[in-house]
Amino acid sequence: MKNSILYTSELLSPAYVYDQVSILGVLDKLVNLKEKTACLPLYSIKSANMIGLLEIIKPYVSGFSCSSSFEAQLSAEVLEQRQTIHITTPGYRHDEWDNIIELCDFVTLNSINQWETIAKKKSVNTSLGIRLNPELSFVNDERYDPCRPDSKLGITFKQLAIANLRQELDWECIKGVHLHNNCESIDYEELKQSVEKVMTGLSEFNLKLKWINLGGGYLLNDETDLTPLEATIKWLQDEFNVDVYLEPGRAITAEAGYLVSTVIDIIKSKNKIIVVLDTTINHLPEVFEYQYQPKIMTASDSGKYEYRLVGCSCLSGDLFGDYYFDKKIEIGSRVVFENIGAYMQVKANMFNGINLPATYLLCRDKKLKLIKKNDYETFRDRV
Ligand SMILES: Cc1ncc(COP(=O)(O)O)c(C=O)c1O
Repeated sequence: MKNSILYTSELLSPAYVYDQVSILGVLDKLVNLKEKTACLPLYSIKSANMIGLLEIIKPYVSGFSCSSSFEAQLSAEVLEQRQTIHITTPGYRHDEWDNIIELCDFVTLNSINQWETIAKKKSVNTSLGIRLNPELSFVNDERYDPCRPDSKLGITFKQLAIANLRQELDWECIKGVHLHNNCESIDYEELKQSVEKVMTGLSEFNLKLKWINLGGGYLLNDETDLTPLEATIKWLQDEFNVDVYLEPGRAITAEAGYLVSTVIDIIKSKNKIIVVLDTTINHLPEVFEYQYQPKIMTASDSGKYEYRLVGCSCLSGDLFGDYYFDKKIEIGSRVVFENIGAYMQVKANMFNGINLPATYLLCRDKKLKLIKKNDYETFRDRV
């Protein structure tokens, strides 16, 4: 059995476990890319922001990218002075600007209005950029498509042209551009196309760029062909003489995460054997959001025991799906969800007063390190 340590009784249940070896495997690929192309990889901390995890990732990246002042503050706590903090969000609050400018080395504006606000700030030591919306969609589900019609994410070329006519932007002050228009893609040709569209669109404006941030939205597994990415980075460096940043999130953390749970009841219904776990879809919110069925470590398509695995909240739709197993499941059995390291823990909630999973690091030496455990106080103080 893979990772049998996840089945040991010393491990609290439910628990998120992040596997250091898996994270280091992806970071190795990022380091290779950096050595080959001189790009500047960041980690987008929105996908998973547990401090122990950030500490593991930190030595391999040029900095972190953030979406709020809290994420920026956390980054400042973890990173070294020489590393950089980058931010972009449609949600800059007017009362947070001073703090954001203080914390972040690179601030990317999401709209022309944001430009107006920030341009009025006197002491801007940060490098300012604008997020462009290339209006090139690759994601079928509109909820995850940054280029959906009437998107709030990034400035379109039409908006840029209007701002230019009205002289609303000071081109001298804009040092960088940012794009992020994909989700879970393995096709870097899509990135190449997007970058080409952005750079062609920009040619009519008088910008003197120092950097471009290619965003996240792509995976980095063994099957991914990085050739188009490498070619794009090189093209940007040679043609435009810019620093090229990338800010993957999911690619670094998704495969490293497990949710360990325990069977607390088994109910025979008319057609199914229902297995109730001590966890809930609220610990894996993307299961419900995406209607996606998470992988389970010991499940097997050819198994002879079929079970419906459900969460323990009052919501009837709190279910993970139907699975087959070779071995019979009993009360007390462990069920381990795989590939859940991104966007799960950060979105988890305590609906029904169900405790949040504990958090562990599975260290390189195969030892489990308890990072956090939650209790009644966590619940009481949360809302
Ligand atoms: C601006 C920006 N950058 C980076 C990311 C990270 O994307 P991913 O985790 O898919 O790599 C996101 C995700 O939403 C994003 O909005």
